[in-house]
Amino acid sequence: MRTINFKILLSDFNSYQFVLNPFFIRNWIGFCFFSTEIKLNLTVTKSINMNSRRDFVKKSAIIGAGAAIAPSLTFGTDFKISKEKLNVAFIGVGLRGTNHLNNALFRNDVNVVAICDIDERRIPIALDMVAKAGQKKPQVFGKDDYDYRNLLELTEVDAVIISTPWLWHARMAKDAMLAGKYTGVEVSAANTMEECWDLVNIHEQTGSHLMILENVNFRRDIMAVLNMVKQNLFGELLHFRCGYQHDLRGVFFNDGKTPYGEGVEFGDKGISESKWRTQHNLMRNADVYPTHGVGPIAAMCDINRGNRFLSLTSHATKSRGLHKYIVDHGGMDHPNASLKFKMGDIVTSTIETSNGETIIVTHDCSSPRPYSLGFRVQGSEGLWEVDGNRIYIEGKAKKPHEWDDATEWLEKYDHPLWKKYGELATGAGHGGMDFFVLNAFVESAKLNIAPPLDAYDAAAWSAITPLSEISIENNGEPQDFPDFTRGNWIKRRPFDWMKINY
Ligand SMILES: NC(=O)c1ccc[n+]([C@@H]2O[C@H](COP(=O)([O-])OP(=O)(O)OC[C@H]3O[C@@H](n4cnc5c(N)ncnc54)[C@H](O)[C@@H]3O)[C@@H](O)[C@H]2O)c1
Repeated sequence: MRTINFKILLSDFNSYQFVLNPFFIRNWIGFCFFSTEIKLNLTVTKSINMNSRRDFVKKSAIIGAGAAIAPSLTFGTDFKISKEKLNVAFIGVGLRGTNHLNNALFRNDVNVVAICDIDERRIPIALDMVAKAGQKKPQVFGKDDYDYRNLLELTEVDAVIISTPWLWHARMAKDAMLAGKYTGVEVSAANTMEECWDLVNIHEQTGSHLMILENVNFRRDIMAVLNMVKQNLFGELLHFRCGYQHDLRGVFFNDGKTPYGEGVEFGDKGISESKWRTQHNLMRNADVYPTHGVGPIAAMCDINRGNRFLSLTSHATKSRGLHKYIVDHGGMDHPNASLKFKMGDIVTSTIETSNGETIIVTHDCSSPRPYSLGFRVQGSEGLWEVDGNRIYIEGKAKKPHEWDDATEWLEKYDHPLWKKYGELATGAGHGGMDFFVLNAFVESAKLNIAPPLDAYDAAAWSAITPLSEISIENNGEPQDFPDFTRGNWIKRRPFDWMKINY
């Protein structure tokens, strides 16, 4: 006689959640083959109301276990029982790392077991956050650039979140996967084509999962538009626009004390992102930050899952904005006024996909401009544009040839995840999307299943940087994307964004 414990949660989310864990499924499959007798234990529980984000997370941990029935569940040697608690280590606890840390500390399914940062000023800040959340003091690393490798040797660490400067991302992600850790890496994931391949190769070689922590994929309007795409509202997809259009001049330069808006120093004399990011503007003419734009679009058109990026052409304007900013704020005699920044102020890339769509990606961070990721999603039946908050669907718009205000549409197609948890997520940062990206990471890691944004996504999206650089260098010559899935994009099924519950 074999016993199955079958629990049904009558939740306050107006739906029945079947709570299964992978251990159950594995037993169940074995049992169907080898057993003739079944004893079914049925437990029905009524969930309590969520009063706080902490309650929510406690509950979502249970619901997350239901994700075991999602198609991405991996059976095999790396199969693990869903963990109640995930032991997470944080490599890099600067501005972004402490944001993730803060959100992790809201959860009661995460133990913060180790932190690492080479800037000793960041350590007490992070430790203080952990202490205030009532957790045990984590182990501390950061005595030198490679001390993170000692952190990776800790057997108790299940998962790591890497929020360091770009040049560290791929190296740390590779080391973390080699150490068998479930790995989350901030954007962009890689700087060179070799690094893109490394991420894929090490993932395949080790079976360790990698999630690119692209939070914009979880933005409320993006998930609503994704819902519209999946419901075929726009018809056959044709064209997209997106990018990173953010005046970062006050981030690229500072006075070494204030992270934003004061002074015109960078590198060793700067603080936070100006310490490392501005050097890329000086040395590279490329779209160095493509994933906030292209990540959400890739999800809409199923890149690496039935579709793929084929080729790209890129062009750059002249470089003026950063020099002007230095002169305006530091004077013509400031030593930085003589620097020649290589990156064009506006870099525009056009990507072709194998399904016949085009995607225009813009990088625009050195000029005065209000923030916008500039999304447009266009198909045979109509289009949505984030700028102007407008939408037009033929036959459904209020008037022919006139835009509808998108607000009503976005509310109507609000993603179920946002409907349920939006209010709780709002305090998490970046309007709530930071909550969802961490939630997806933690729930996937607890189950050790492929994350929604995986190593192939990290590689394909990040490849825009080196490809745009070569294209610009060669007067816009088209550059082919490698097929990081080695042909498997043909049979990989689209991720079911409408069914995810984490
Ligand atoms: N997804 C988003 O919305 C978002 C927002 C901001 C930043 N980011 C990304 O997050 C990453 C970090 O950005 P940030 O703003 O926190 O920068 P930051 O400079 O504030 O923090 C980076 C931290 O990494 C530490 N570090 C550097 N080398 C290290 C090493 N070898 N070992 C351990 N620690 C090391 C630094 O000391 C610093 O504290 C970047 O990749 C950035 O692009 C993403």
